Amino acid sequence: MCGIIACVGSSNAVDTVLTGLKNLEYRGYDSAGLAIQNGSNLVVRKRAGKISDLTDGFAQELPQGVLGIGHTRWSTHGPPTDENAHPHTSASGTVAVVHNGVISNYEALRTELEGLGYAFESDTDTEVVPHLIEHYLEDGLDSDAAFREAIDRLEGSYAIAAMVEGEETVRAARQGSPLVVGIHDDAYYLASDVPAFLEYTDEVIYLEDGDVVTVEDGSLSITDLAGEPISRETDVVDWDPEETGKGGYDHYMLKEIESQPESLSNTIRGRIDPDEPAVHLEDFPRGCFEDVTEVHFVACGTSYHAALYGARLLEEANVSVRASRASEFSGRIPNPDGTLVVPVTQSGETADTLGALRAAREAGARTLAVTNVIGSTIAREADEVLYIRAGPEIGVAATKTFSSQVVTLVLLAERLREEVEGAIAREDRREFLEALSVLPDQIEEVIRTSRAEALSEKYDDRGAYFFIGHALQHPVALEGALKFKEITYEHAEGFASGELKHGPLALVTPGTPIFALFDGKHDEKTHTNAKEAQARGAEIVAVTSSERTASFADDVLAIPDTHPDLVGLLANVQLQFVSYYTARLLGRPIDKPRNLAKSVTVE
Ligand code: F6R
Repeated sequence: MCGIIACVGSSNAVDTVLTGLKNLEYRGYDSAGLAIQNGSNLVVRKRAGKISDLTDGFAQELPQGVLGIGHTRWSTHGPPTDENAHPHTSASGTVAVVHNGVISNYEALRTELEGLGYAFESDTDTEVVPHLIEHYLEDGLDSDAAFREAIDRLEGSYAIAAMVEGEETVRAARQGSPLVVGIHDDAYYLASDVPAFLEYTDEVIYLEDGDVVTVEDGSLSITDLAGEPISRETDVVDWDPEETGKGGYDHYMLKEIESQPESLSNTIRGRIDPDEPAVHLEDFPRGCFEDVTEVHFVACGTSYHAALYGARLLEEANVSVRASRASEFSGRIPNPDGTLVVPVTQSGETADTLGALRAAREAGARTLAVTNVIGSTIAREADEVLYIRAGPEIGVAATKTFSSQVVTLVLLAERLREEVEGAIAREDRREFLEALSVLPDQIEEVIRTSRAEALSEKYDDRGAYFFIGHALQHPVALEGALKFKEITYEHAEGFASGELKHGPLALVTPGTPIFALFDGKHDEKTHTNAKEAQARGAEIVAVTSSERTASFADDVLAIPDTHPDLVGLLANVQLQFVSYYTARLLGRPIDKPRNLAKSVTVE
């Protein structure tokens, strides 16, 4: 996830673009840059680091101008370096482009352009765009036609804004990544999100996929790619500019819970093909896991719960697997030659996980990090990396990154069960991948229909809260309880359904809420144990897609029907809401719970 901004007709484009970038910093903060049309010159300034590094570094030499584009980056292709920061320019420096999204056919385009003599300076997918525009300009097309030809060549997702030297015009296009126009008298703004320009205007037009926008001389035109005019309604937004980074939400956590349809689409994009049916993981060619005989996950907290999910999937596929809390990892690997050690970490900086990674490398095992942050220490030190592509997460409580970790591990598990000797292949792979491809839409449905807020009010102030689940629902129950205690400060525990009667049942008193997670495959065990607790006064909230299963429960959090191996991802969103709304009722500092930090770099 990155943020883009453009402005035309602003009295001071540098100030406007920098303000927009600060307001979009929640979308990415590892590099920033801008391009300003200054007289007949196109001036580009960019660097790795925060937006303040950009302004501090270039304070004396930021150009004046009335139109400009800017970008704040969250790395997806190539580490955060000055070269990889946007805007990207063509070889002659006369075309500048900013982009949010992933251009999935960039490798083919890059090979083609390099063959034509265009030299690339970055590792990014974006850099193909300015070279393509320049190529079509050199072919004799005018700027508008060159831009449209270039856009027509792109596959994947993008919100793109481009400028050509000497022209007082910004052109933009949208496909699969958000882009919104702001209008104030003769000034126009284009951005990934409304908060970017909320200081200047509340009049907006939400663009749709396929829209191409041209802004010049105080005029705005919206067309399709072929140039046919399109009419879009203007809305007035009722938002407080103070809330900009949160995009109108009260808390980052809620924003991040509700952004999961988008973040999970990014995690999955280009990686599954239900028709083949196959899983393609970019840096992992077919056959690259054939030497693996055992998998060992190491992780902490929420990431450990994601690891448990991955481990259970592999166990069911007959792959030899373990998951260790990184802080408890002994460093012993009996068979280093065949063992794949997988550190799972959102930040890529957790000291306990880094320690486990180093111990595994020391023991001679192959290491493959699953992380969100490109260029993080663990991404750099592991032999291989698989990115979860969730975009930046600001709230201390991990939400969207847990979902993206689980899905990434689901994909990795699919590849392992295809390639590890003795593993059981999935018979219903096509149906499974189809179910995975519609998961973002089903999460959207959970977000739209969740009754969690009302249930949080009903179950307020009960003193203790339990979460139970069997098989793949067990790690989700553990995660539900961790999230709950972390942000509500109330006592919460997660258990394997069958364990309740081996001790924890003694804690159940009349009115104790128990969130029971059902997957449609192992419901009997959870049902029996939940009923035993209910008989002792517990109130059961069933999280299930089945009305029949739910019929005994005191309350239900309904989820759509999906493959049993994916149910936990839908149930988890309901539990995230339960934690959030309960913490809000209690007036807790949700985004920054006491004593905790987003990145734990001490052991
Ligand atoms: C809980 C939470 C923590 C982290 C843990 C590991 O909401 O965020 O439990 O999951 O500190 O952090 P990473 O994933 O960065 O290694």
